[in-house]
Amino acid sequence: MSGRTRPRGVLTSCRGLPLALLIRMKMRLFGVWALLALILCPGAPEELFQVSVWPNQALVEFGQSLVVNCSTTCPDPGPSGIETFLKNTRVGKGPQWKEFLLEDVTENSILQCFFSCAGIQKDTSLSITVYQPPEQVILELQPAWVAVDEAFTVRCHVPRVAPLENLTLTLLQGNQELHRKKFMSLAVASKRAEVIIHVRAQRENDRCSFSCRADLDLSLQGGRLFQGSSPIKILRIFEFSQSPQIWVSSLLEVGMAETVRCEVARVFPAEEVIFHMFLEDQELSSFLSWEGDIARANATIRAMEAGDQELSCFASLGPIEQKTRKLVHSYRFPPPILELKESYPLAGTDINVTCSGHVLTSPSPTLRLQGAPDLLAPGEPAWLLFTAMEEDDGRNFSCEASLEVQGQRLMKTTVIQLHVLYKPRLEESGCPGKQTWLEGMEYMLACIPKGNPAPALVCTWNGVVFDFEVPQKATQNHTGTYCCTATNQLGSVSKDIAVIVQGLDQGISSTIFVIITTALGVGIITIALYLTYRPCKMDRRRLLYRQKKEDEEEESQFAVQQEKSTTHIIDNHLVE
Ligand SMILES: *[C@@H]1O[C@H](CO)[C@@H](O)[C@H](O)[C@H]1NC(C)=O
Ligand SMILES: *[C@@H]1O[C@H](CO)[C@@H](O)[C@H](O)[C@H]1NC(C)=O
Ligand SMILES: *[C@@H]1O[C@H](CO)[C@@H](O)[C@H](O)[C@H]1NC(C)=O
Ligand SMILES: *[C@@H]1O[C@H](CO)[C@@H](O)[C@H](O)[C@H]1NC(C)=O
Ligand SMILES: *[C@@H]1O[C@H](CO)[C@@H](O)[C@H](O)[C@H]1NC(C)=O
Ligand SMILES: *[C@@H]1O[C@H](CO)[C@@H](O)[C@H](O)[C@H]1NC(C)=O
Repeated sequence: MSGRTRPRGVLTSCRGLPLALLIRMKMRLFGVWALLALILCPGAPEELFQVSVWPNQALVEFGQSLVVNCSTTCPDPGPSGIETFLKNTRVGKGPQWKEFLLEDVTENSILQCFFSCAGIQKDTSLSITVYQPPEQVILELQPAWVAVDEAFTVRCHVPRVAPLENLTLTLLQGNQELHRKKFMSLAVASKRAEVIIHVRAQRENDRCSFSCRADLDLSLQGGRLFQGSSPIKILRIFEFSQSPQIWVSSLLEVGMAETVRCEVARVFPAEEVIFHMFLEDQELSSFLSWEGDIARANATIRAMEAGDQELSCFASLGPIEQKTRKLVHSYRFPPPILELKESYPLAGTDINVTCSGHVLTSPSPTLRLQGAPDLLAPGEPAWLLFTAMEEDDGRNFSCEASLEVQGQRLMKTTVIQLHVLYKPRLEESGCPGKQTWLEGMEYMLACIPKGNPAPALVCTWNGVVFDFEVPQKATQNHTGTYCCTATNQLGSVSKDIAVIVQGLDQGISSTIFVIITTALGVGIITIALYLTYRPCKMDRRRLLYRQKKEDEEEESQFAVQQEKSTTHIIDNHLVE
């Protein structure tokens, strides 16, 4: 473009000058040849001058300034200057040049620079291109949380960028190019530095990062490549179409801990579901867990009063919150009260065993006392009168209360153990009156008294207290009659125990005697009897050993019983 003369100006000058000369030629009667030469050759030295501008191509950043140097080859130029709507000031000047400062360049424009030389004016133009690098690149993801299978929009725009022809906007998903738009060939009307795409959400897109890059390539105009990028935006995909479900037993006993569970199925991402559970207004502290597509929370609830209460569960994920409520009914049902009119009855005493519903139970439960006649009206106490015998010591009574709450039958059972007090007894089973020891073996006097409270036992031999709890190696002088006395608060009882210590030989011969007498009837030969002698001896020994083991066991049981009796006499056992 530079150096191109303005066609209109050239024509005017070219015609005007030959006409003036022609008149002068006619007047001075110059030769025709000279005239022709002048007409045909308009190239006077002045007309060969050139006008140029520096720079010859201007790329100016928006709002910045530009210095322009207009110069000519005309040795003695006439009027000159620039034509532009831009604010300009002359900042320098030479005989053949002028320099101007253009300020606040905000629009593309064409500047004319002109010089006249010997009445001829020539000009040259400079096109000024304004550019604006993409400083701010904005990426919008809408909506921020997208339900699976729904469309979302990715929009990228650059508020200030120029020239659009040289702009390329690229949408990126991670490092991958998703879409690219060049503005070069687009119609002027659609020219906004913007690109919009619509995408259908898939679970895999969750947490994908999106960004937008703007490239402004001015390399062909003498500039460079300017790049701008948007901050990264993360897309969130969710699936949450089902309401939470509450799992809890519909009946709660006041004061009892119960687990409540709230669950959401087909939810994604399950681990990000947030739960809040409430029993009426009180928030429950819950424990969250998830498994595949299922998110759940559990908590412990404890109803403090009877009646209907609302349990609610709120589950939220991203922009969605779902709520479920459930009514639970709480009741009071303490176990029935089972009483013995006498706590420590003596054997032979009449006892009234009574079972009644707890006062806090509402409505009154139906009671069933084991052993008592059945089918009482609700609330009516069940009772049983009987005479406590020694054998009843340790007997258990149980009472079952049943209550119907919200159509459900509930049961509570109380067990009580009866302890009957009775005088000591030395029975043949626990304390045999005749005990046979085998010489050389270890024995203890076998005597376990009965009685409640557990009696203390003292045994004497020849008036001397005999320590029956220490195993004794049986000798002949252990033979004799021992006197054992069992005593408790209710009285005492004594028994003589005859201990016979058999010598080894004595034991064997008595065995032979027994065998002989029994065998006599069947007429077995004496030799055959002699042959059976040795195996019998061994049997006898084994038998005695077993006897000793049994004694030891009995003794340890006895020790336990004594210990028990010193602790509780009556125990209540609550069974649910
Ligand atoms: C303007 O251009 C002319 C011709 O090229 C040159 O001689 C002159 O020094 C320039 N002026 C400035 C200030 O550079
Ligand atoms: C910039 O835009 C101009 C005008 O459309 C064009 O001539 C030039 O080739 C473009 N430059 C690049 C690098 O695309
Ligand atoms: C909740 O569930 C977890 C895991 O299943 C379990 O360990 C925890 O005991 C539960 N808590 C309650 C209050 O039930
Ligand atoms: C046993 O006790 C119950 C309840 O206290 C009472 O109603 C009942 O009459 C008593 N039975 C006897 C025989 O005393
Ligand atoms: C009575 O109950 C207690 C405790 O449950 C038990 O140890 C005992 O053996 C029971 N007695 C009888 C006679 O069943
Ligand atoms: C039996 O006699 C032995 C000695 O022969 C004696 O040491 C022991 O004390 C006596 N036993 C009793 C129970 O008197």
